Amino acid sequence: MMLVGIITVSDRAAAGEYEDAGGPAVKAECERRGWSVLAQAIVPDDGGRIQQAIRSFAGQGCQLILTTGGTGIAERDVTPEAIREIMRVEIPGFGEAMRSESFKITPNAILSRGLAAVVESALVIALPGKPGGAVECLGFVAGAIPHAVKLAAREATTC
Ligand code: MTE
Repeated sequence: MMLVGIITVSDRAAAGEYEDAGGPAVKAECERRGWSVLAQAIVPDDGGRIQQAIRSFAGQGCQLILTTGGTGIAERDVTPEAIREIMRVEIPGFGEAMRSESFKITPNAILSRGLAAVVESALVIALPGKPGGAVECLGFVAGAIPHAVKLAAREATTC
C-alpha cells in the first residue's frame, strides 16, 4: 500500500480566503488508485514552509509526497525552487511528460514548472494548482510512480 502525503501550496487557501479544492481532488484521485493518504497540509507560497511540510511528511513515512500549486510563473510561485533546494536528485521525465501531455489539453500547461524529485526517501511530485490539472498530471505519470517510489526508498536498486 502506497503511503501518500498531500501538500496544497497556496497563500489564499492557507489564509482561509478560499476553500482548498486541489488537496481534496488529489486525495480522491489517490484513493481511487488504492493509495493511502497518510497526511495532508495547506501551506502558503513560502519556500521554508513548503520544505518543512515535505520533510515532516517524509519523516512520518510518506513514500509519495504530492504538492499542488505554486508551479507557475507568478512572483509567489516558488514550489520548484523550494523542492530543488532540498532534493537529492531531480527526475526530469516527470515534468516533461506532465507538460507534453497537458499541452495537448491546454496550451497554458506549458506555464507549469511541475517536476519530480527524490527528497530523503520519498518521491516528491509538484503538480499544478488547478484541481483538474493536478489530477490530469498525476494520471499522466502514475504508471512510473510505484517503481520510482521503490527506488527512492532504496527498496529496489535496478529497473
Ligand atoms: N496542466 C493541466 N493538465 N491542466 C491545466 O488546466 N493549467 C496550467 C498549468 N498546467 C493546467 C496545467 C496553468 S493555467 C498554469 S498557470 C500552470 O499549470 C501553473 O499552475 P500553478 O501555478 O497553480 O501551479
